[in-house]
Amino acid sequence: MAIELPHHRPQWKTHIGFLLAAIGSAIGLGNIWRFPYLCYKNGGGAFLVPYLVALLVVGIPLMILEIGLGHKMRGSAPTSYARIDKRWEWVGWWQLLFVMFGIMLYYSVIISWCLNFFFFSFNLSWGEDPDSFFFSGFLMKSGSPFQIGDVRTPILFAVAAVWFLSWFIVFLGVEKGLERANKFFMPLLFVLVGILVFWSVRLPGAGEGVGVYLRPDFHRLKEVGVWVDAFSQIFFTLSLGFGIMIAYASYLPRKSEIVRDSVIICLTNCLFSIFVGFGVFAVLGYMAGKTSQPVDQVVTKGIGLAFVAFPKAISLLPSFARIFGMLFFASLVVAGLSSAVSIIEAFTCGIVDKFHYSRGAIVSVLCIAGFVGSIIFTTQGGLFWVDIVDHFVNHYGLVLAGLLECVILGWVYKTSRLREHIEHASSTKISWWWDYAVKVVIPIVLIFLLVNSIIEELSAPYEGYPVLSLVLLGRDWLVVTLFLAVLISMRSWKAAPEEPS
Ligand code: TRP
Repeated sequence: MAIELPHHRPQWKTHIGFLLAAIGSAIGLGNIWRFPYLCYKNGGGAFLVPYLVALLVVGIPLMILEIGLGHKMRGSAPTSYARIDKRWEWVGWWQLLFVMFGIMLYYSVIISWCLNFFFFSFNLSWGEDPDSFFFSGFLMKSGSPFQIGDVRTPILFAVAAVWFLSWFIVFLGVEKGLERANKFFMPLLFVLVGILVFWSVRLPGAGEGVGVYLRPDFHRLKEVGVWVDAFSQIFFTLSLGFGIMIAYASYLPRKSEIVRDSVIICLTNCLFSIFVGFGVFAVLGYMAGKTSQPVDQVVTKGIGLAFVAFPKAISLLPSFARIFGMLFFASLVVAGLSSAVSIIEAFTCGIVDKFHYSRGAIVSVLCIAGFVGSIIFTTQGGLFWVDIVDHFVNHYGLVLAGLLECVILGWVYKTSRLREHIEHASSTKISWWWDYAVKVVIPIVLIFLLVNSIIEELSAPYEGYPVLSLVLLGRDWLVVTLFLAVLISMRSWKAAPEEPS
């Protein structure tokens, strides 16, 4: 059966609507709690070097590639690959499946923690000891991934709310749902984060914290791990390899400034991260001064930064502590939601393209399935599951998807054909080195990252977790989604229904 798309394809109503939606997908929890921590862990300001290199070498070229591909093929990720060659359709399904039923399942749970903490800020419920409040009181964390224990009701209710809100936005459609929501969310997020950062940098001791953030330790650049972190963060933060940008670009009008838009999306996202870092470190500097500890003593691991270190600092604020807490957790919720809706849309787009079911039905089924899938992450063993699935999906799933993308586009389809299309659609020329980046440089970098991750995996189990849990939750999560992707791609394409008259 030939690939027939629905006759009527939704479109962004305004150009800024598309840009805000793409930026909304890119800016997420990863920018607010992950980036500052990575920076800190990897030599402060020196981390900006690999980060910017990753942005230029992988980020921008792949963004142009994904947006160009979706625009040219006017379809979701699976449709776009199928149009190159039917044999590659599974790649698109695989991306969508492991992001939707891998990343998104735990991502919605982290948003729900933020939602809970938003309410906890009303009376600073974490008290004197946010560490035990978070791990023992709130998560009631069990001893191992296999001890699932009970579902944590406050988390479950918040997750239901997250899925309901996401469902509502995507259900309303591209223009009335996603475009409108992002036109509201993004300015709101910029205002919230703007207030937080300006507030933070004026706290006493803030300079100390910012110093730690920016003081470069260039010796660290010799370590492979620092580079691995920078490259995987670029994938995650720009939503590359997710199949999302491909779907979003398929709703663009024929004349579109693909190169310029890609650069704007990438730069806004990365500058946002760097900006947030100032606020986060200023607060840590303030807290270090207050508790007479060096700054490096007050920072904990990624998740701990937002849910332990920050609550601690918020309680110490001289005035309006509750409002600061509410603003901070509200920003996380808004940033998270605008990313969450993007994958639901990308998946819906894939199913509509191929099977032509009604959009509303698909969104509803996806969100119910997603909610049910998230429940396991709301249990007492949930934190382990979050950590393991996150590690495998980021270190292998996204990198492999990026590699396949480059090989298919660079060698099977040929970048020159895509370049021709992009340059035809827009007024900008793509730099000559884009083809080399896609065909040679990025694949080499990604293969290196993969080999490095595998060597590390084999040398010691990740975080010392039981090997069986890593195999079942990490590796098998990817294998099962791969299997499903192949199954879906083997189903035949349905003929497009007649346009209702
Ligand atoms: N880019 C987002 C971030 O930095 C991650 C993200 C985008 C995401 N879209 C998503 C996560 C969809 C889960 C589902 O946080």
